[in-house]
Amino acid sequence: MSSEIHLQRRQRRQRVLNRLGDGLLVLPTAPVRMRNGDVPHPFRPDSDFYYLTGFEEPDAVLVAFRKSSREHVALLFLRDRDPEREIWDGRRLGPRKAVRTLGIDKAYSMASLYDELESLLRSHPRMFYTLGAEEGMDRDMFRIFERNRIHDYRGNPPSHPEVSDPRPAIATERLTKDGAEIETIERAAEVSASGHREAMRAARPGMMEYELQAELEASFRRQGSKRNGYESIVASGTNACVLHYIENQRRMQRDDLVLIDAGAEIDNYTADITRTFPVSGTFTPEQAEVYRIVLRAQKAAIRAVSPGKSWQAPHAKAVSVVVDGLRKLGILRGPKKRLVESNAYKPWFMHGTSHWLGLDVHDAGGYRERGGRPAKLRAGMVLTVEPGLYFGARDTSVPASYRGIGIRIEDDVLVTRSGSRVLTDDVPKEIRDIERLCQS
Ligand code: GLY
Ligand code: MN
Ligand code: MN
Repeated sequence: MSSEIHLQRRQRRQRVLNRLGDGLLVLPTAPVRMRNGDVPHPFRPDSDFYYLTGFEEPDAVLVAFRKSSREHVALLFLRDRDPEREIWDGRRLGPRKAVRTLGIDKAYSMASLYDELESLLRSHPRMFYTLGAEEGMDRDMFRIFERNRIHDYRGNPPSHPEVSDPRPAIATERLTKDGAEIETIERAAEVSASGHREAMRAARPGMMEYELQAELEASFRRQGSKRNGYESIVASGTNACVLHYIENQRRMQRDDLVLIDAGAEIDNYTADITRTFPVSGTFTPEQAEVYRIVLRAQKAAIRAVSPGKSWQAPHAKAVSVVVDGLRKLGILRGPKKRLVESNAYKPWFMHGTSHWLGLDVHDAGGYRERGGRPAKLRAGMVLTVEPGLYFGARDTSVPASYRGIGIRIEDDVLVTRSGSRVLTDDVPKEIRDIERLCQS
């Protein structure tokens, strides 16, 4: 692994530690969770842990503290090499190789974690650790606190160290992406876009939704993505009106639209793309009518992404276009201003337009600044832009010809210094381009 990425990770750790202040950061990776019997769920590292270490094995803990605002010490606790276990479960890096491979300062066996913590806590009366996430680890931590009570000079009752949660500070850092992160997200976007194109080509009436999912995900895998950032949504017909539909078990019919919301993960970063297209290759007039409204809304929202603007500016633009569209379809009546202010569009556009994107599909990072005002966009942030319209099959408040139509269009947008850049525009979204690709 290059020293460039080691340097970027070192800088991330330093920035996080500077935000937290003096004290001991103790950050475990995700636990292995059992799926059924002795079958574990596939392991994926905790996003915060991966952000600061780049390490992907289970059973590991980062311990770090700063020496000054420019220097820190990062220790990694990880599994020992174990030839016997490695025959069954695969290779382990082991402490001996971890320092060079990961660019950290020291590496220790997990077996020594609590002894080392106990001695480190003697010189660190403050600790940054998330309580309540892992009961087993909390219990071991409490045991150390008990043995290691801090006696203050006034003779007051001895106390355990001050414990505070490091997650908000890490989230704040993760909100603005560094160079390595942007490159990785670009790659995830490229791979995802190409998978979506593949799915448009592959869709046929009579196919099961999960068959189309297999085509999409096979394309992700072929391009180097070992898993998805989240369960793929392949929602045909009225299933598109279920926002997080992941059953994917319906047989697609000739006149259906199919909504695919899926993102390939690359190095634990994900893209998040939605396209909605006709299974037969041709939109019906009513589907096209609704589609054009969502597309106009999405483009207007993307134009509102630029540094200095509120993160909610894209949503306001999307709402404005959607309300115009709903009035034109005869679904909403009355003055526009009143319809916007009273959220009259919500029965059919019930979700927000954007969220942060990165290691997590709904990425870490607050949506408000100090004082409660909406967060402002800054260069290096990545967000989705994804308006939709969903007319339920039994929604009698819309004309019968529109019922059962659900459409969302979602792209990933990087905020740049001068404006923004769409990372996912390699998948068509204009009607004629979609139809051409679906028919090819
Ligand atoms: N894929 C989930 C979302 O679009 O928020
Ligand atoms: Mn999204
Ligand atoms: Mn999505």
